[in-house]
Amino acid sequence: MSDKVVLAYSGGLDTSVAIRWLKEKYDLDVIALTIDVGNERDFSTVRDKALKVGASKALVIDVKEQFVNNYIFPALQADAVYEGQYPLATALSRPLIAKLLVDVALEEEASAVAHGCTGKGNDQVRFEVGVTALAPELKIIAPAREWGMTREETIDYAQRYGIPVPITATSPYSIDENLWGRSIECGVLEDPWREPPEDAFAWTVSPTNAPDKAGYVEIGFEKGIPTAVDGKNMDGVDLIQGLNELAGSHGVGRIDMIENRLVGIKSREIYEAPAAVVLIEAHRALESLTLSKAQLRFKQKVAQEYAELIYNGLWFTAQRQDLTAYVQSTQRFVSGTVRLKLFKGKCSVIGRKSPYSLYSFGLATYDKGDQFDQSAAAGFIHIWGLPVKTQSRIQPAKDDKKGKEG
Ligand code: ARG
Repeated sequence: MSDKVVLAYSGGLDTSVAIRWLKEKYDLDVIALTIDVGNERDFSTVRDKALKVGASKALVIDVKEQFVNNYIFPALQADAVYEGQYPLATALSRPLIAKLLVDVALEEEASAVAHGCTGKGNDQVRFEVGVTALAPELKIIAPAREWGMTREETIDYAQRYGIPVPITATSPYSIDENLWGRSIECGVLEDPWREPPEDAFAWTVSPTNAPDKAGYVEIGFEKGIPTAVDGKNMDGVDLIQGLNELAGSHGVGRIDMIENRLVGIKSREIYEAPAAVVLIEAHRALESLTLSKAQLRFKQKVAQEYAELIYNGLWFTAQRQDLTAYVQSTQRFVSGTVRLKLFKGKCSVIGRKSPYSLYSFGLATYDKGDQFDQSAAAGFIHIWGLPVKTQSRIQPAKDDKKGKEG
């Protein structure tokens, strides 16, 4: 009996060719593992295809709930967004897929795992560092990185072995999707000057064609987790799916950016992430109401660190656990409701309320009911400006005083 390998199988061209290639090259029995993270696909067809192409076993596991509760929501609570724009959909799914590869490999007594990533992207790093963290003894094989075939050669290989070439193989784009977003790369998008053609998008209407009537939506949060839409309680998976539809129908969630990959390449990335964009906006708005200035400032730094770590494949690390503990602690009063307006590609927060709101009308108002003691401001400013005054007397700053060189 030959040794076994568990392959992360998408049903696409590369991973289908990989099934055959792993048998040829390494004489391994291939267990195809397909993970449902909310990427719309006919999973029974994918499963059948794996077997037809030569897998000895094909498994499909639905992990949508786990993905939302253990990966997406913690990232949302952290406000993790990479380089100011990317909500990290693909990046968040990789550690979970790595974990499942490991679980199945141990269960099936396989000696290796495999994935279909090339050597130019972030995903290879995320899969492999994830697997290493969880089961350092497992061998990792990356066929598409090893075989050195071009796209055409891969198609030839498929045809030679009777592997059906999916129509998506002739699509000009490389696409990855899950509940948290859809990424589109390659083809004409590789020219950063070129406006993305409409056919790159699938989840969002063009803002130009979005309805003339604005949409309104209220998101309820409990401890930083979205739990209700328009007053109706929903589980995380349905809530995200529903918001993807709603915000997408208003053209909300399109992102066009130049992104810095971990492997040193700048790449032009298009994303569609309607639910993520809405939820991140809403969550931040609720935090601005319920967290102190100091908490908000420090949390922003943590958010950036957290995003980097997710992007860079370091999910299964002590650093991530420690940051998660901090983030969790910050969320204990982040409960309440945020109202948003969706209009022609734009999502704006237009209202927020919370039983733990730190907003005080009495302190803020300029009208009747003002409780702020304005006379105290003079003393405050005197003390606040004291070190500035002292220093500038003794060490006059350059250019600060007209006609006097420092
Ligand atoms: N640039 C994004 C990231 O690194 C998306 C990658 C999409 N992956 C893919 N295999 N098409 O997270």
